Amino acid sequence: MPNNQTKLYLALTFTLLGAAACLSVRSAQRPENKWSPTIPRTWDDEAMRSLEVPLANSDVSPKHISSDYYYRVPVRPIYRSYPVYHPDKEPSGYLNSLENKEPEIVFEAGQLKTEADWIAAGELVFDAPPEFESTGLLFAGVRDRVWYDKNRVPVTKDGVLPFMRYVVREKGKVELGLFSCAMCHTRVMPDGSVIKGAQGNFPDDRTFGSEIRIKAAQLEGKEGDKALQVLRDELQRSFAAPWLREDPNARTNRMSAEEIASALEAIPQGVCARQGSSVFFPPRIPDLIGVKDRLFLDATGLFRQRDIADMMRYAALNQGADLLSQYGSFRPVAELPEALTVSRYSDEQLYALALFLYSLKPPPNPNKFDALAAKGQKVFAQEGCAGCHTPPLYTNNHLTPVDGFKVPVEHRQRYDILPVSVGTDSDLALKSRRGTGYYKVPSLKGVWYRGPFEHNGSVATLENWFDSRRLSENYVPTGFRGYGVNTRAVIGHPFGLDLSTTDRRALVAFLKTL
Ligand code: HEC
Ligand code: HEC
Repeated sequence: MPNNQTKLYLALTFTLLGAAACLSVRSAQRPENKWSPTIPRTWDDEAMRSLEVPLANSDVSPKHISSDYYYRVPVRPIYRSYPVYHPDKEPSGYLNSLENKEPEIVFEAGQLKTEADWIAAGELVFDAPPEFESTGLLFAGVRDRVWYDKNRVPVTKDGVLPFMRYVVREKGKVELGLFSCAMCHTRVMPDGSVIKGAQGNFPDDRTFGSEIRIKAAQLEGKEGDKALQVLRDELQRSFAAPWLREDPNARTNRMSAEEIASALEAIPQGVCARQGSSVFFPPRIPDLIGVKDRLFLDATGLFRQRDIADMMRYAALNQGADLLSQYGSFRPVAELPEALTVSRYSDEQLYALALFLYSLKPPPNPNKFDALAAKGQKVFAQEGCAGCHTPPLYTNNHLTPVDGFKVPVEHRQRYDILPVSVGTDSDLALKSRRGTGYYKVPSLKGVWYRGPFEHNGSVATLENWFDSRRLSENYVPTGFRGYGVNTRAVIGHPFGLDLSTTDRRALVAFLKTL
């Protein structure tokens, strides 16, 4: 790996175990008043088989590792972690003070007594990084003003970088923890307040791109060539879909380090090239507030959420286990590593995490339901929006096929599928490891605190989404544009595009109250 801050999620949950610390998860005593949940089994082979909607090419739908393998993987302990400060706000002697801390395991399932304890412990899991670095560009970057300015990294009112934490796993060694759920699913608002679980706004791809650029300038000749090959291999592992006649992701094999950096830097905040998607059509990060009510997860509705155990499975797979899965004859990691060399969450950790996600509440909405919003609610009804974005969830929890995908007959019995396509760009749905041939109808709740919108985050604002000019080839997308793209049409979803200016204003005002 060229560096630790990589888009390679292999190393995430399934990261090499630094220390063989063991975790005691059950306590002997059970006081009477103890909330003792029955923890579902995450890796149940039968449940894993039916977890996902098949891929658009069902022959390559993933086959996951066996439960036997999964449970041989050691559990990663969760250590106490500490905030990362912008250099202007870091208390003096801070890192030295952390060096003097003892490592401390903070997630102890046996000590959780009430439901509130479990939820609080779930927040620790949400914040717990599976990857660490203690030297290198990023470690230096988070203590360097230039890194914040250049990458436009937001910090909280108190000058905290809420996307990463310092961790002490070994006395005397302070590590920067990366790739926690919080890294991508935390939003810093313009006033410096923080919304946990909201569509995140850490510029992860931008910082990664800028690191690649710096390294490429440092490495010359053979060293540079070698680093480039490692980078290209990583990108293939993260994104290749080799069963496609023309895999768009093969393009990075022909790009220089600088070009790859530019492609990553073209991904705006709120959008993220998650493994299994693409650098060229990355998904926007979804809002996790309200996720409990969603029957399908991911823009393409790849995962079903039948119960809390499915959320646990989602988290386990997405933090790296999916790189071990088999897609037809293709396995992203090529060789399955020895189970003892990787790490995973415990079922208790995943259960606590899911409870925490389910407990997330939106912040108080500053937008009042006034006369304009009331008018907008009428527009919403007249335009038939509620047919798909049905109150109170503002989604009917259905899938819509993309243009060019023929819905298999048995899908109609198995899944809730609308008979119409909304005509949005089909690349993510047809040309990626997450591609089912569908997009789900997203909930409109919380649109006031998030963006960009649409599955690729192509438009920055609601006003842009309902602006018919976005259908023109000359349009400059205000959100994700694409690598090397200056103008393109943001196609599809024709609803609300022919409204009068006043009706559009009213509709947007209404949506912002949800
Ligand atoms: C590197 C960034 C990143 C990290 C780390 C990350 N996520 Fe995500 N998450 C995403 C992106 C991007 C998507 C959208 C994927 C898609 O639509 O295909 C997503 C989707 C989801 C969804 C689906 C929600 C929906 O309504 O569709 C859930 C649930 C979720 N993440 C939970 C988690 C949890 C829990 C963790 C930690 C264990 C985590 N994520 C870590 C970027 C991240
Ligand atoms: C036939 C079903 C359908 C109808 C009718 C419909 N939508 Fe949608 N809407 C969708 C789907 C599907 C998406 C996601 C498309 C994508 O990501 O490619 C979406 C996306 C959106 C988004 C972006 C949300 C996000 O999180 O990115 C907004 C806002 C929205 N719709 C509002 C409306 C409004 C307002 C109306 C009525 C004027 C409406 N929709 C009518 C299905 C529908």
